[in-house]
Amino acid sequence: MGSPKPSKKRIAIIPGDGIGQEVIPQALKVIRASGADVITTEFDWGADRYLRDGTTVPADGFATLGRDFDAILAGAFGDPRVKTNIHAKEILLGMRFKMDLYANVRPVRLLDAALCPLKGVEPKDVDFVVIRENTEGVYTDSGGVFKQGTPDEIAIQEDINTSKGVERIIRYAFEYCERHTKLDGTLRSRVLMCDKSNAMTHAGGLWQRMFKEISAEYPKISTQHMYVDALCMQMVRDPRPFDVIVTNNMFGDIITDLAAGLQGGLGMAASGNIHPGKTSMFEPVHGSAPPIAGKNLANPFGAILTAAMMLGHLGFTRESDRIEAAVLEGVRQGKTTQDIGGTLGTREVGDWVAERVGQH
Ligand code: NAD
Ligand code: IPM
Ligand code: MN
Repeated sequence: MGSPKPSKKRIAIIPGDGIGQEVIPQALKVIRASGADVITTEFDWGADRYLRDGTTVPADGFATLGRDFDAILAGAFGDPRVKTNIHAKEILLGMRFKMDLYANVRPVRLLDAALCPLKGVEPKDVDFVVIRENTEGVYTDSGGVFKQGTPDEIAIQEDINTSKGVERIIRYAFEYCERHTKLDGTLRSRVLMCDKSNAMTHAGGLWQRMFKEISAEYPKISTQHMYVDALCMQMVRDPRPFDVIVTNNMFGDIITDLAAGLQGGLGMAASGNIHPGKTSMFEPVHGSAPPIAGKNLANPFGAILTAAMMLGHLGFTRESDRIEAAVLEGVRQGKTTQDIGGTLGTREVGDWVAERVGQH
């Protein structure tokens, strides 16, 4: 007996800028091939639109996404023509903040030993997930400047940590263990909290206290703490001990690029921006990669795995598993882009995965 088949789901598609416009069509092709019962609507939010008519997010844009869609699939935002990056901030961080998508879930899985820059590391050795706080921290861009442009300039960038925000992300990490398994089929069972509480004592104090309090409610889950600098070192020396890592917004951003390196690079990494029960947003970890944009060079696997993650979130478990299996097979057979050693282009990889997914 499987879980009930989900009814038709409505997905907003926002390819955005640069390689976002190349990898998202591949992900869409694969979603269609999977047979998942979805209806998609494309949005043109991004640099082109901003440069054309000055719009970043149209009036009531976030309300529309939250009301009319079950999930959002986004590409990447950032364009050298928009020096301030204002559109990326308003669209991407806007979705995360204004839709309160507080849990940025970034799975870290090595699909094939050949993709990992570390010696002697197998897929079973890189199998963890980073749960990044997604609505607070230095990303709130609080603070200001004084005497800008003078020798006495002061720039203040504040790190906002609320009791509510810290509690819910730590709780999310513990609850994640109860619902997710590792590659070997066992439930996730260890939560590591990563901070810099030896230097940032105010925020660190709150995180430390919350972590201790909440962990007491989950006696079956073991806990650990690491300072972010030591964690970075450990991640490249031996990633095996990691299971679930919970951390703040900025540390989560940084360590997930590092972790993407363990998976074969940014082209392989998927993510979800989640608020349980609300319309959530899924996007690859990588950016718009301007130097390779428009050249059919971008690796679409991160976007395709992101689509699989979204389908799993929407209840299309079989379709999601099938897509993940096809990507794994593509990696094994070398049906890949150049960044991970293959010779195919973005579209050709997308075609191969879609065909494979459609065969079952
Ligand atoms: P980036 O992720 O775009 O690129 C970093 C490096 O990884 C580059 O060498 C790039 O060529 C490579 N790379 C990234 N994705 C790849 C893929 N799918 N296939 C092959 N190679 C890939 O990061 P960046 O260069 O620091 O930023 C470029 C722009 O993207 C900036 O405007 C930045 O703000 C934005 N950005 C957006 C997001 C997002 O929308 N989620 C994430 C990160 C960066
Ligand atoms: C990411 C990106 C964003 C972030 C940027 C584009 C603001 O790097 O999604 O990891 O820092 O969160
Ligand atoms: Mn990042």
